[in-house]
Amino acid sequence: MGIAYLNQDWKNLADTSAVKIPQNPLDRVIGQEEAVRMAGIASRQRRHLLLVGPPGVGKSMIAQAMSFYIPRPKEEIRVVHNPQYPERPFFEVKTQAEVLQEKEEGSAIEGEVVDPRAVPQSVAERLGYRCSKCGFYSIFTESACPQCSSPKFQVNSPSPFGDVFNVLGAAFGVPSNQEKVTSTRKIGDREEIIVYERYNDKVRVLNDKVLERRRKLEKRSPSKVIIPLDRNPFVLATGASETELLGDVRHDPYGGHPQLGTYPYERVIAGSVHESHEGVLFIDEITHLGQLQRQILTAMQEKSFPITGRNPQSAGASVRVDKVPCDFILVAACNIQDLQHILSPLRSRIVGGGYEILMQTTIEDTPENRMRYLQFIAQEINADGKIPHMAVDAAVLVIEEGRRRAKVQENRENALTLRLRELGGLVRASGDLAVYHDSAIIEKEHVLEALKTYLPVEEKIKKQYGNMGAAVASEATDSQKSQEYMFNYHNHIDDPSYQ
Ligand SMILES: Nc1ncnc2c1ncn2[C@@H]1O[C@H](COP(=O)(O)OP(=O)(O)O)[C@@H](O)[C@H]1O
Ligand SMILES: [Mg+2]
Repeated sequence: MGIAYLNQDWKNLADTSAVKIPQNPLDRVIGQEEAVRMAGIASRQRRHLLLVGPPGVGKSMIAQAMSFYIPRPKEEIRVVHNPQYPERPFFEVKTQAEVLQEKEEGSAIEGEVVDPRAVPQSVAERLGYRCSKCGFYSIFTESACPQCSSPKFQVNSPSPFGDVFNVLGAAFGVPSNQEKVTSTRKIGDREEIIVYERYNDKVRVLNDKVLERRRKLEKRSPSKVIIPLDRNPFVLATGASETELLGDVRHDPYGGHPQLGTYPYERVIAGSVHESHEGVLFIDEITHLGQLQRQILTAMQEKSFPITGRNPQSAGASVRVDKVPCDFILVAACNIQDLQHILSPLRSRIVGGGYEILMQTTIEDTPENRMRYLQFIAQEINADGKIPHMAVDAAVLVIEEGRRRAKVQENRENALTLRLRELGGLVRASGDLAVYHDSAIIEKEHVLEALKTYLPVEEKIKKQYGNMGAAVASEATDSQKSQEYMFNYHNHIDDPSYQ
């Protein structure tokens, strides 16, 4: 076997740096053809997916890769203050176009920004840009004129003919140090209000139209974006807490006190079910959710889920936003032995609107699959970023180890293991040794050295104690032996992969 076994194409490669890594993340998944195909279909058709299989075979990788096919989110979700009943904020869905339009309106209310020399001199003086003595212009933060040193902000002499800008201030002798000056200007035979505002070293000019838009915006009920338009369509929820999964309303120590407290709508926090709206909600080890699986089912059926305060002691408990949208694709993962603990209506929901997939644990040992293994090694090295590439004859050793593990763990002949997380560990350990030995490439000897230490601990135990049972018997304390604790140990012993 060895090199001679490999096909022509990569016999010529010196090392893994020449291996092409696919752009599409689903193509980076090795040996899970069915899962990859179904993931592609599920993401385009918006179907749910249940991935069943042992750890480290690519379930998370596939779920994550699905977002490659998911279009960018088109909706933004906000909670809006309800003035009649603050503890029942509304939600509001804004389309991309609406969000864009609001942004434009927002920048339109910025008004026109001009140089202080472009506004009437008296305005520039009142805003603190122009020295009324010598006419020199400087920024308002300088209280004295840099040219003639006279103070810029003087107490105006009260004058009944005080200009239209500052009649009141002038009458009471208030210094003409203003952030804002309101005036009027004639356009044809129409007179319009015009406001000049300080804006760093410039002046902002706001006309009727801009002021009107501002007023309109201010009249709008205040709101908070809880699901922004620009978001990752892939949301990971691993054994998540209830609040993380379903959202919450934060506690307000001032209990919504009108002056000190915050409005209920400001304290609303979305859950993973909402964050994955229009995207993928990935729940690893779904059975760890226990009873929470019911809420997931409800969210899937309704495509919406209320957000309420989940701590009954908290001031948030009385706050609720009803029917917050959560239209997600559920990708759930679990081990074979946990399958029975999935809430059965949830499972039938997935089967009814999606697919259940059993992950593979091995692939046949063929030249093509060895090439895929090589791709896997290159991917691991790339992703790690801290280790050099691997010589092809060294990679063959990794492949041989994959073959050995398929035999030891899965009892398959002529196969390569797909428990690739563990094998990725071997690649990294070899890489670390190459770095340690100042080698620019991972050589055979580094893999051989790593193999000595990089056995699964169960295999090490078997070497040392003969078998797992003997190890447990000799190491368990008396109290462990007498307790149910032992049951956990037996779970491992019963694992067929280590018999
Ligand atoms: N089928 C595979 N193809 C390529 N790499 C894999 C595969 N399975 C696992 N890996 C590697 O192992 C890591 C862990 O895999 P992961 O998808 O988290 O496994 P799981 O979710 O099944 O426990 C991945 O990030 C990847 O580096
Ligand atoms: Mg995982």
